[in-house]
Formats: sequence, C-alpha cells, structure tokens
Amino acid sequence: MGAAKPDSEIMDKVVNLCKRRGIIFQSADIYGGFRSTYDYGPIGSLMLRNVKDAWWKTMVQLRHDIVGLDASILSPPAVWEASGHLENFTDPLVDCKECNGRFREDQLEDPSTCPACGATNSFTEARAFNLMFKTHAGPVEGAGHAVYLRPETAQGMFTNFKLVLETSRKKPPFGIAQVGKSFRNEITPGNFVFRTREFEQMEMEYFVPPDQADMWYEYWCEERMNWYIDLGIPKDQLRLRPHDQDELSHYSSGTSDVEFLFPWGWGELEGVANRGDYDLRQHSEHSGEKLTYFDPELGEHYIPHVIEPAAGATRSMMAFLIAAYDEETVNDDLRTVLRFDPRIAPYKIAVLPLSKKETITPLANQVFDLVKGRWMADYDETQNIGKRYRRQDELGTPYCVTIDFDSLEDQAVTVRDRDTMEQDRISIDRLVEYLSDRLP
Ligand code: GAP
Repeated sequence: MGAAKPDSEIMDKVVNLCKRRGIIFQSADIYGGFRSTYDYGPIGSLMLRNVKDAWWKTMVQLRHDIVGLDASILSPPAVWEASGHLENFTDPLVDCKECNGRFREDQLEDPSTCPACGATNSFTEARAFNLMFKTHAGPVEGAGHAVYLRPETAQGMFTNFKLVLETSRKKPPFGIAQVGKSFRNEITPGNFVFRTREFEQMEMEYFVPPDQADMWYEYWCEERMNWYIDLGIPKDQLRLRPHDQDELSHYSSGTSDVEFLFPWGWGELEGVANRGDYDLRQHSEHSGEKLTYFDPELGEHYIPHVIEPAAGATRSMMAFLIAAYDEETVNDDLRTVLRFDPRIAPYKIAVLPLSKKETITPLANQVFDLVKGRWMADYDETQNIGKRYRRQDELGTPYCVTIDFDSLEDQAVTVRDRDTMEQDRISIDRLVEYLSDRLP
C-alpha cells in the first residue's frame, strides 16, 4: 500500500469500483436510489463480514477477559432517558430561509453563507435536533408505545451488565463486546458510507476498577491503533487524536479518536472513551437495580469505570478499501488492484478453468472442492484468462488457481500471486499445503 496522499480522484474510483464489482450499491437503486443508504453486494457482504470477524477474533476469541453480546435494536424510552440520549444526543440544525436547505451549523465552512444557494445571513437560529429514530411498538400509535432504534450498540452492554456479570463468572477488568446495526437521523449524511443513517458498529465496554481507568484507557488507545495497522492500513495514514475539552461527549472524561487520512482529510474510524462510572450509575439510578461489583478482597461494592473502544464497521470497511486501492501500468495496460490483507479480502482464492470444455470442468470442480471448505473461493469460467485475472485483482483476491489442458496430464495447476503476478506450478496434491502457508 502506498504512502499517505489525499487524492481527490480516488474517491470516485473506489465508488465506481464498488458498483462495478458488486461491493456496495445505492439502496433501492431501481427506484432511483434512497439517499445515503447502501446495500452490500455479493463481494461487499463478504468483505464487511471479514472486517467484523477480524474485530470479533481480536476482541473476543483471542481473549479470556471479553465476552460477546447481541442485544436488541429496539428499546424503550427509559433506556435513552437514563443514557442521556433523549436530552443530549443532538446536533445544531439551521435552515436557510432562502432555499430551505438544512445544515449542521458546526459543519458549515462559513456560518453566514448557505453552501447550497450562496445566500448570506439567511440561516435561522440553530436548534437542537435529536438524532434518534423514533417509532412505535404494536398496532396503536401514541403515548406509552414509543420505541427508539438504537443510535449506538453500547447501551445494550450497560443494561445487560448485571446479567452478564452473574452468568459469565467474569470480574473487573472484563469487557462485553457487540457488533451490530445502529441508526442515526444524520442531518448531513455523505461521503459514501462514511456517514449514513443506518450503519454498523463494533463496540466494546471494558469494566475496570476506578483506580485502573487511566491505565486501561492508554492500553486500549494503543491496542486499537495497532489493530488497523496489523490489518494493513499504513501507519502514515492513521493517527490518534485526543479530543479537546469542548469536543467531549456528555459522558466522557477523555476520548481519543483513531483517524484515517480519507481523500478529503482526516476522519474518525473509532473513538476510545474513558466514560467513568456515568453509564452504570445512570442506569442504576433510573432502573433501581444495583449495578455494582462486589470485590471480595476489598470487602466492598463499587461501580466499575468504563473504557470504550467504539468503531464503525462500515466506515472501517471504506478505509480498508481506500488504503488497498492501487493502480499500476502492466504491458501498457492499467491494472487496478485492491491490495488487501488476506483476512479482509472477500475471496481468498479464485478457481479458474482455462476453458469451459467438459474435459477440464471435472478437474476444476475437484480443485474447487479441495479449497472451498477452508477458504471462501470464487469459481469463474467465463471470458479470457487475462480479463479474469484483472477481475480478481479488482476484488483483491490473493491467489488465482488456473486449471489448463496440461493439468489433465501432470495433475498440476498454476497459482498466480495477486501482488507480484508471479506464477508457480503446483501439483494438485500439494495445493492445500501451498495455500495454507500463505493464507489465514
Ligand atoms: N458508543 C459511542 C459511540 O457510538 P461514536 O463516536 O458516536 O461513539 C462510534 O460512534 C463509531 O461509529 C464512529 O467512530 C464511526 O466509525 C461510527 N459511526 C458513527 N456514526 C456513523 C454514521 N452516521 N455512519 C457511519 N458510521 C458511523
């Protein structure tokens, strides 16, 4: 992957590639598209799953101090009353009196000029606009039936704290992790899947003894930066930025953002927040449940403090796409290649019979059967082999396995490396071993 360079063209190229190759589509495309809402196609759904699986593996599978959760998306107003979202989860909304355009005041380049029609001093006073989607449960609309779509997955971890503590036999420091959809009625969604109204988050709440909070905050800032680097995002396209005092959320006593150098500048991938005892205290006061941990050594109850690394799955996927995008000239031809870490790559292997002839197909199917249980593999027998290689380069497939007429004689296949384009002739009975040395 290349050095950090904000390239304004790269965004268009990535968006086009996403549509052309079945990675991300505009939602409801056949009806003209539903603004700022996206569907993940055959390739994109594999990739998004890989991003989430990589996070889950690091945060849950490889640790004995973190357990998983899959909480509901709908929740009653009491949860959001306690969390502070009903009162505080707002953005400052202004209307242009000339063109009726609506904007987030804090995102205007010039707060006196409308970016849509150019009118000056045409904005209304800013008013607090709550970002939560509200709906109603059951057939009767009205008071007592209101429910909200969660704007973050985090609250599920706090409302289930007591049950998880009782059932998982964990004690602080320990964490609860969750991956899932969140919804925010963003005033100005945009930049492709960077800011959408429906998106996926990967959040973990780490419950610690109060006197260890600062230490664990530093620990998680470093761990989370390293996660992106380990998965192939170049160091010089990442930074950790501590929030200024006036940027802090209503619950946070310290937050640092992991930021990626997007084509338009630095943007947040993940926030690591030191939330103190805010969440458990609030839910305890509002629900009447005791949300404390009894420390048998100290002989006392305390409310654990919380360190929260909160990442966007869909937003991170976009960063992985941009960081992996590369172009090079090969034999006077432009080759586009996504240089993904194999863990992120949608397909790990493509099985490509040189011809559709019946003589080759059975052997090609045998090769597909050899690899399919272990790795996500594509099987593609249409078009000439050069075009098929280019297609797999654009999907970021690390290895192409080609079955040709000689394969029938020598029981060997050609394995092509995505990055070097070098080819090895490998006997079929050694193929799985060869790939195992190179793929997760
Ligand atoms: N529980 C804390 C929390 O939700 P956040 O910074 O608001 O913190 C965490 O969100 C992450 O979720 C962000 O860093 C971003 O990656 C992702 N995210 C937030 N709003 C988003 C949106 N409208 N579209 C896509 N991703 C979003």
